Amino acid sequence: MHIVFAASECVPYAKTGGLADVVGALPPELVKLGHEVTVYLPLYAGVRRQLPDELTYAVRSITIPFASYNRFVGIVDGGRCGGVQYYFVDCPEMFDRPGLYGTAAGDYPDNAERFALFCRAVLEATKQLGVPEVFHVHDWQAALIPVYLRTVYAADPVLGRAGVVLTLHNAAYQGVFPPATTERLLFPWEIFTLDKVEQFDNFNFLKGGLIYSDILTTVSRKYAEEIQTPEFGEQLDSVLRGRAADLRGILNGVDYAKWDPATDSNLAARYTPENLAGKEECRADLLHAFGLEQVEDSTPVIGIVSRFALQKGFDLVEQIAGRLSDLDVAVVALGTGEPVYEKFFRDWAFWNKANVAVRIGYDDRLAHKIEAGADIFLMPSRYEPCGLNQIYSLKYGTAPVVHATGGLDDTIEEWNPALGTGTGFKFKGYSPLGLLAALDRALMAFEDKEGWKKLMLNGMAQDYGWEKPAREYAAVYDEVARRVS
Ligand code: ADP
Ligand code: GLC
Repeated sequence: MHIVFAASECVPYAKTGGLADVVGALPPELVKLGHEVTVYLPLYAGVRRQLPDELTYAVRSITIPFASYNRFVGIVDGGRCGGVQYYFVDCPEMFDRPGLYGTAAGDYPDNAERFALFCRAVLEATKQLGVPEVFHVHDWQAALIPVYLRTVYAADPVLGRAGVVLTLHNAAYQGVFPPATTERLLFPWEIFTLDKVEQFDNFNFLKGGLIYSDILTTVSRKYAEEIQTPEFGEQLDSVLRGRAADLRGILNGVDYAKWDPATDSNLAARYTPENLAGKEECRADLLHAFGLEQVEDSTPVIGIVSRFALQKGFDLVEQIAGRLSDLDVAVVALGTGEPVYEKFFRDWAFWNKANVAVRIGYDDRLAHKIEAGADIFLMPSRYEPCGLNQIYSLKYGTAPVVHATGGLDDTIEEWNPALGTGTGFKFKGYSPLGLLAALDRALMAFEDKEGWKKLMLNGMAQDYGWEKPAREYAAVYDEVARRVS
């Protein structure tokens, strides 16, 4: 079967979070199962830098009409890698910018136009380069594909029989724009109603995708349940309940070719469950990188790698920071995002130079070093659709401390010291006391060296490779293809 992926991120080309890891890893796994997969991405400035000076165009010019003007888009042939064909949607006025979605000052004001253009360009491109049986679209940035397909393109003889799967990676990001967007994007006003794209008097890209796609998936079983409740549904819970029969939770895999301490070239040393010596070297290297060389061997190192966003639970960390600073722990944090959290971490490190250090920024190599060099990985997310870092941590023998939500709940099992079972520590109920209690349990467990080693080995033995989820997606594509044919 031919599947077209449309997404706004994909490693190694463009990444702000886990979406990029998923869109990078799932297609080659589908190819291994015998499918043909094509990935479409916007040609951002950062992508341009990774391509040869001379671009190869698969399609030189596609006309994308807007209310009173046209834009012209090229489709750049990115070649094949891992059996997957990559195409980049080239429209320099829209995508040749420093950020993917915006700058520190906020989102780009023309994001509706940017990602509508992307969606329409993908549809038009496939008419020349190959219409798939199934479009697999990701998040709000690609969510207009099903809206176009089932409205203004519904009568198209080539596109009409393609199915659509939409994967929701995070319900909080919806692509919300003023009502006039309807006209600007040349949609009929009939779709601007509450049972279609309208949400609180705005045009909501994600809602449109949820309504018009054949099957919806999200990235863990638990999050698939959570988003149908008002607490986690980000006001789309009733829409999602309405589509419950077509909503599946498929837990993300992780790419062990990139995230395995046995082969990871970012590390000071490699290690395996059979020989853990290298992990101590990684710990020393990490403490050195953060200027915390004086931390004692007996002191557990807590690692954080994250977007600094409300979702990630750092308000809880802020509330227990004073208590944590008094305990015998070291904290290393890497992240970037909302200024309030950047400031919190900077201040925390400033007042606790001996045992707290932070790096504000995005640094893939350092992220690997933290996974390997820390003893405990902290991820107290308020909500977490799947979460990849806690799964990487398991493989690196770094025990996760997590809030029992979404994919965190699905992937981490509480350590039971009496039985020697479990892989980490988790707290139910989003509260500073819950987090503190989970950390206390982790610190206590850390003191029992034999028990801790068992805990590490339990984590390292887990297999969250892509093979199983890829088969689950393939079954979903089959189901969609059967429905539309
Ligand atoms: P989300 O997609 O919500 O940010 P995930 O846990 O699914 O959360 O994925 C985050 C991905 O982004 C991981 O691969 C993680 O290593 C990476 N990441 C996040 N912040 C940084 C950073 N500051 N530097 C390097 N990598 C980061
Ligand atoms: C989103 C979610 C994260 C998930 C990732 C990949 O960014 O916040 O939990 O792991 O998408 O699906």
